[in-house]
Amino acid sequence: MILLTYLYFMLPGIFANMMPVLMKKHWLWLARPVDFNLKWFDGKNLLGDHKTWRGLISGVVASIIVVAIQRWLMQFEIFEKISMFPYDQYSVWLVGFLIGFGALLGDMVKSFIKRRVGIEPGKKFMPWDQIDAAIGAIALISIIWPVGWIRSLVLVVFTFVLHILVRNIGYYLKVNKERW
Ligand code: CTP
Ligand code: MG
Repeated sequence: MILLTYLYFMLPGIFANMMPVLMKKHWLWLARPVDFNLKWFDGKNLLGDHKTWRGLISGVVASIIVVAIQRWLMQFEIFEKISMFPYDQYSVWLVGFLIGFGALLGDMVKSFIKRRVGIEPGKKFMPWDQIDAAIGAIALISIIWPVGWIRSLVLVVFTFVLHILVRNIGYYLKVNKERW
């Protein structure tokens, strides 16, 4: 039950994180690199051309929509019970933006670091690949709402476990080729 409240809180970020993958065959005109193909001092791509405006924008939009739905659902008692975030006290736009943009910012910061240490796009970087979005989302939502260290830690650990679990299930169902 407690884990459900954590999962519910993370939902906008989870959607934000999934959108770039789901949108791969759509909005081709927006599939331009966020880093404008710029290079860092080491001569390598800042992020890589796989980090696109399409991913960023579709993720933020998805997050805002999910938060709007969560805000609307608060009128029902069960949803109010599993809402650890007071959706009715903040702007849906702002909360959706902070969680969605935070998640994708975390992903981009991680990509930036991966490129600097020479890890190619798509190659593993445990545990950061699993928790980048959670850290980014927590960081940005903290601007308006105190998440707290304990809750942040639980969120990050839970995200990591969930990620590994989902990828393993996907691996056995042959949805993804890599186990994590
Ligand atoms: N993606 C995107 N735009 C973003 C973020 C991701 O289009 N802003 C796409 C990428 O092209 C990738 C997919 O979403 O195909 C999954 O992204 P992710 O797992 O974060 O990228 P990786 O391939 O692991 O790259 P990196 O090594 O930089 O983390
Ligand atoms: Mg990745």
